[in-house]
Amino acid sequence: MHGQPRNRLFSLNFRQLPSLALLIGLLAAPSPALAWGAEGHEIVAALALRELTPAARGQVVRLLGSEAMMIHDANWADEIKDQRRDTGVWHYVDIPLAASGYDRRRDCVRGDCVVAQIEYDTRLLTDRGANPQARAEALRFLIHFVADVHQPLHAVDNGDRGGNDVHVSIGRERATLHKVWDVDVVQELGFDTGRTAEGLERGLTPAQRKAWAKGTPSAWADEAHVIAREQIYPAVGGRRSLRLPRDYSAREVAITRVQLAKAGVRLAWLMNRFLNG
Ligand code: ADE
Ligand code: ZN
Ligand code: ZN
Repeated sequence: MHGQPRNRLFSLNFRQLPSLALLIGLLAAPSPALAWGAEGHEIVAALALRELTPAARGQVVRLLGSEAMMIHDANWADEIKDQRRDTGVWHYVDIPLAASGYDRRRDCVRGDCVVAQIEYDTRLLTDRGANPQARAEALRFLIHFVADVHQPLHAVDNGDRGGNDVHVSIGRERATLHKVWDVDVVQELGFDTGRTAEGLERGLTPAQRKAWAKGTPSAWADEAHVIAREQIYPAVGGRRSLRLPRDYSAREVAITRVQLAKAGVRLAWLMNRFLNG
């Protein structure tokens, strides 16, 4: 019986492990998402990295430290939101649902929207005389924001903060419409973001590359806004609370697959032009 105390101690510690894990999990949990979830940003960055010219890759290594940092840093802009409150509004553009498209004077006062930030970051990247730290930061923002502007609910507002105020239930899950599009629909593609990026890149046709590697941030926002207006909001019908079908994410994943692929192709296109040696 001498073994007992030690045994008991051991089993007690062991039983505490789950609650410890839960506590760590709660502390580490991100605050309510305002941006495409970590997976979406990793997929876009990984896809773009595969499409970079050697010169652009070289610049990524110089500015961020390594090629892998491009994927690692894809979520940096979300991580700093709490410390840099002014950057929170840079992740989206509130184009009114009923509007025909982006209007800078109405939707992007003082440059506080994702469209203006992409423009600003590309300009800073082209300025070789700029401080290397400022250029590295501009690149981190660019990698993140080109993905965000392709999330349809980041380019729309119906007085609901892009669906953040639309409460939905799917089976037993309760969420917001915004979170479903930031996270759930992306996770439908699987959890191995590198593999998803590889699959998306392999699936690109020459016609898609040609059609997508063009445009402007405002045109990309308009495209996302049309998707929100025509393919997402009709099912909401102005409600602030609704039930979605259990297979909602599976039904909508085709839209997200294309938006992530477009974002990756366009990010690479921008970087290949602006980080050309
Ligand atoms: N906050 C306000 N509008 C938003 C949007 N469209 N997307 C994300 N966060 C927002
Ligand atoms: Zn974001
Ligand atoms: Zn979001």
